[in-house]
Amino acid sequence: MKQKIQEKFKALFGEGGNLFASAGRINIIGEHTDYNGGYVFPGAIDCGIMAQIKLNGTDKVRAYSLDYNELAEFGLKEEDVPAQAWARYIFGVCRETIKRGGRVAGFDTVFAGDVPLGAGLSSSAALESTFAFAINELNKNGIDKFELAKIGQSTEHNYCGVKCGIMDQFASIFGKKGSLIRLNCKTMEYKYYPFNPQGYKVVLLDSCVKHELASSAYNKRRESCENAAAAIRKYHPEVETLSDAKRQWLEEVRTEIPEEDFMRAEYVIGEVQRVLDVCDALERGDYETVGEMMYQTHFGLSRLYEVSCEELDFLNKLARKMDVTGSRVMGGGFGGCTINLVKNELYDQFIATAKEQFKAKFGHEPKVYDVVISDGARCVE
Ligand code: GLA
Repeated sequence: MKQKIQEKFKALFGEGGNLFASAGRINIIGEHTDYNGGYVFPGAIDCGIMAQIKLNGTDKVRAYSLDYNELAEFGLKEEDVPAQAWARYIFGVCRETIKRGGRVAGFDTVFAGDVPLGAGLSSSAALESTFAFAINELNKNGIDKFELAKIGQSTEHNYCGVKCGIMDQFASIFGKKGSLIRLNCKTMEYKYYPFNPQGYKVVLLDSCVKHELASSAYNKRRESCENAAAAIRKYHPEVETLSDAKRQWLEEVRTEIPEEDFMRAEYVIGEVQRVLDVCDALERGDYETVGEMMYQTHFGLSRLYEVSCEELDFLNKLARKMDVTGSRVMGGGFGGCTINLVKNELYDQFIATAKEQFKAKFGHEPKVYDVVISDGARCVE
């Protein structure tokens, strides 16, 4: 990938430039908790985005996507929004940097990625983080890492239509080789957890299902949570976000909110607690509990939050049947991957059976990704 990027850069823009990279992410547990002020437990992975970037002395950006074989040229003013959807991520990062008082000089770039698209591994956060990090370095803006993550998040909100939480961009900026990160999305306190489960593998099974309208469904989930939190707040003013609410308090407003909002909130309140339970279990090396919590999360995401689909439920059920330690849909949902915690000795058999049975039912095999926890945003050379 690196060589291809550098060759294309040379052909289009000549010598020079620096190579930057950032990563996609996995999340062990803590799904849809981030925008509710709860905990998440992600890590950056060994696939991501790489970009060769060089300031060009103008006030324009010329960006070439190797994956789309497409060049986009745009200015840096609010009205200069590029036509290509992929370029809007880069444009958004520029704009959000400027809004924070940062300088953004024009630049040339060629970039490519190896995060599978639509798999729930945050290819978009990888793209935003690469450019947020690089622009900060090249313009010597001195913006701190939290703010860089927020630049990516605001890009999603303001230029891509997804009202996402902070997890993906945080993981992609703060990721560290071999460590997961537990983040409190309310206080932004975080802690690295070395992750090397002895005797287990973490593997993703990609259903290769992508749902259209996922972003509007995502935004709708978020609204439901905010509605539920607002209802509870009337009686318990200390509830800023849903993560502050007790299960009992939700019960008190059951008849005041739509059933759907109740279900979404019930899931979130349970999930906030599960992240803490998983962190404790990990410190004890108790992978059985970690796995059990993953199954509980899947149940909640499927039945209460309703972001799973037939293919993911199938993979989850199969994992349970085969005594896989833990399995659940990962990321925003509406397609994408399951994340599985599998004993080494069961691994081959599980993968082979999943491929065979999934294909028999859905006509294609799931893709298999072994998880390697890696570094986040960085300057490669
Ligand atoms: C997407 C969002 C994140 C988070 C997850 C669900 O990946 O970008 O902010 O909400 O979904 O946990």
